[in-house]
Amino acid sequence: MRPSSIFKLPCALCMLLLLSSPLTLAQAKVESREDEAVTRVLVVFHSDAGGTWKMAQAIAKGIESVPRVQAVLRQVPGLSEVASLVPVVKVEELSEYDGIALGSPVHFAGSTPQMRSFIDSTLDLWSQRALEGLPATVFMSAGSGAGREAAVQSLWSALASHGMMIVTTGIMGNAEIDKRIPQGVNPFGTVALTGIPGASRPSPGELHVAQLQGQALARTARATQLFRTRSPVAQQTSHSSSNPAAKVSAVDQRIANLGLDLRLPAPAGSYVPFKRVGNLVFINQVASRDGKILHPGTVGAKVSEAQAREATRLAMTNVLAALQQAAEGDLSRIKQVVQLTGFFKTDARFTRHADLMNEASALAIDVFGDEVGRHTRGTVGAISLPLDSAVEIQAVFELYPDVFEDNLG
Ligand SMILES: Cc1cc2nc3c(=O)[nH]c(=O)nc-3n(C[C@H](O)[C@H](O)[C@H](O)COP(=O)(O)O)c2cc1C
Repeated sequence: MRPSSIFKLPCALCMLLLLSSPLTLAQAKVESREDEAVTRVLVVFHSDAGGTWKMAQAIAKGIESVPRVQAVLRQVPGLSEVASLVPVVKVEELSEYDGIALGSPVHFAGSTPQMRSFIDSTLDLWSQRALEGLPATVFMSAGSGAGREAAVQSLWSALASHGMMIVTTGIMGNAEIDKRIPQGVNPFGTVALTGIPGASRPSPGELHVAQLQGQALARTARATQLFRTRSPVAQQTSHSSSNPAAKVSAVDQRIANLGLDLRLPAPAGSYVPFKRVGNLVFINQVASRDGKILHPGTVGAKVSEAQAREATRLAMTNVLAALQQAAEGDLSRIKQVVQLTGFFKTDARFTRHADLMNEASALAIDVFGDEVGRHTRGTVGAISLPLDSAVEIQAVFELYPDVFEDNLG
């Protein structure tokens, strides 16, 4: 099998399952819009000197190269100075993901005691069959590379015991890597050789194959997520993206909890409320509701700061209403809030624009969560704004592309 064919497997699997199911492709597309969410893949690792940590980042980069798939980095319990900012994994969160990549240094042709002890802590998940059917892959960092393939396979034993679907590397990336230097790549899972003197490690070739490995895992996770049946225990404990109702309702639920009424004002001129360019969405809104501007006038004169904050919240709510239309009703399709720019009608001495704009930023994070909601930002004072609005917000968002357009189209 050619390396590129490996990537077509998940797509072929999708087609096969769709053909054998009573759903037509058109029905599946509609249901996928309603039910599907982001695929989340966990990269959990241990690293002492940083080799495995660098590999974990390359795996995560490969995972994120697949549309609508998010990588979540976690480390196993135990002190790791090289990746001190990475949160420690909780064993019960494992069943919340749609795929798992395990990374460890090679110790005596096996994994480290820290990784081993973490795997032993999954005993309850094993008896509940909570990880059954989840795609998984293994990457490592070694010194000379002695025993590296056995080391990868030692972790495979644990994955097989859990009934997980092992994603291998085969000969992917082989054609592109520099064969004049020793490389730790092998058919089982990428390994970095960090003990080779005089060379930067992991090598560019090892990092490249690690990215391809992450991509292969993400594609398998994405394809199998749609059809995987989970053990009853996993379904009960999972708050994951694989539980479509939970995931889709997460953004909707937050909008409901915040009491947001997403009603898009009719355009007040010759323009459209949003424009999509590729996966980017561009939106501009003022603080208008039911044809009226909320708290019109100049901030610091007629309009108090409290009123300006209220107006900012309404302008941002209108931005979200436009975004909901752009995303065809499914706000879980937002990959990230890219940039917000706030224009405030103020007098020349006003300097607290950033405080006012925090209202919009906080709303973006409250709705989408910290990872998706954080954005770059600009704030500007203006002498006048349309319809005497105290505020106007410009926003740029990135959407995940449609999974069927991407994989089957
Ligand atoms: C106790 C111990 C055993 C090791 N055994 C091996 C081994 O069998 N083969 C190998 O290639 N490297 C071995 N190494 C080297 C580590 O795998 C190497 O330093 C690796 O890069 C560490 O990963 P890290 O940079 O993520 O901490 C061993 C190191 C230690 C401390």
